Amino acid sequence: MDFYRVKGEKPLYGTIKTEGAKNAVLPEIAAAMLTEEPVKLINVPYLSDVRNMGAICRLAGGLCDYNKGSLLLDGQYFTNKTIPYESACKLRTSFLFAGPMLARFGKMKISLPGGCNIGTRPIDLHLKGFEKMGACINFDSGFVEAYAPSGLNGAEIYLDFPSVGATENIMMAACLAKGRTLIFNCAQEPEVRDLAALLCKMGAVVKMPDSECILIEGQSELKGTVHSVLPDRIEAGTYMLAVAATGGNVEITGIEPFLLQPICAKLRESGVKISEGINSVKVESDRKAHSVDVKTLPYPGFPTDLQAQITAFLSTTTGTGVVTETVFESRFNHIGELCRMGAGIRLEGRSAIIEGCNHLTGASVTAKDLRAGAALVIGALCARGETKIFGLNHIDRGYHNLSEKLEKLGADIERCQEPSESVGTLLC
Ligand code: UD1
Repeated sequence: MDFYRVKGEKPLYGTIKTEGAKNAVLPEIAAAMLTEEPVKLINVPYLSDVRNMGAICRLAGGLCDYNKGSLLLDGQYFTNKTIPYESACKLRTSFLFAGPMLARFGKMKISLPGGCNIGTRPIDLHLKGFEKMGACINFDSGFVEAYAPSGLNGAEIYLDFPSVGATENIMMAACLAKGRTLIFNCAQEPEVRDLAALLCKMGAVVKMPDSECILIEGQSELKGTVHSVLPDRIEAGTYMLAVAATGGNVEITGIEPFLLQPICAKLRESGVKISEGINSVKVESDRKAHSVDVKTLPYPGFPTDLQAQITAFLSTTTGTGVVTETVFESRFNHIGELCRMGAGIRLEGRSAIIEGCNHLTGASVTAKDLRAGAALVIGALCARGETKIFGLNHIDRGYHNLSEKLEKLGADIERCQEPSESVGTLLC
């Protein structure tokens, strides 16, 4: 089993480039299956989630070939084959094949999805949307089935919460439905807009006339295209927080700074120097930052996907900060592990109260979800002594070559393999 060995307190210097956004690529793989023509995605990160999504695509007859940062997708032979538990449990976006399958074939059957363990994560909003469009839904032995034998019809759909996944699934289904669909209280995340941009290139008519509504005019068919995936604001934000916590001076390139406004604002408020370029952000930190309060919200609020990482940063600042999670009900897998490294954090409901400490100390810790893993890497980079981070399978879902990239900035981090027996003993 792989683990990271990190010797902390090495400031970070240099330049690091952001890759394409995981949360855009995954729905875009599903979207490519709306057409029988090839779709090429470029700027695609080589992540385990991308490979797992590609495997589901192939299981259902589609083509998904990765080659040097590009994904060639072909839905010509894609079918509505049942997606079994073994595939669906690997990632939550497995359920994003539901919309395209239902729209193209009038039928889908998918095992209830898995994904990071950060709350109950229901799919009721996706299903309510499909029902409004005329589908009949049925649950059977851990599977969800939907039927729309005469095709889907456009509808007016109000989401009780601006769910990213539900907005994307309904938007994809609506592209091949009869007539007009309006999604009110939709998610506005940049990745949702990137998916809409891809769909438009495929011949769909998708408009966001105001910020809380999406309008889709259904088409009889879509076509192939080429699309460059937008940069990963969460990856960029993770590097920003790593530099802020560890100290140093790093330019993060290949990113549009406006995507990072919440994180730039919070870091500036805490005393970290941030300079924005056209396609880059520079972070300068002398490790003298002070605490701030943060509340996660749907976009354009502070992203929940950076909540764990900013908690790690605030563990190293002076004063008391409060981080409130409003998007997921239990996204605090990182707290116990950061406390093992000496962080002073207590949980009160959905808020983490963080008493900043002078320095964290190295320890053996385990990543229990993707962003919790990123938070532990940040903690380890600035901790005194050596940290071992296990559970890298979670980190690999969203960060490609993380240790190599941080090493180039001066971090003392290596990916190691432990003989399986000793890891078993350690984790027991
Ligand atoms: C996506 C992102 C994830 C991010 C999250 C919120 C991808 C691949 N993943 O996940 O990284 O953390 O958005 O920005 O893009 N909910 C319901 N019913 C539903 C759907 C969602 O109650 O049918 C709830 C969820 O339990 C959660 C909240 O809505 O509390 C937000 O979930 P959602 O926006 O759907 O997140 P995902 O699309 O799963």
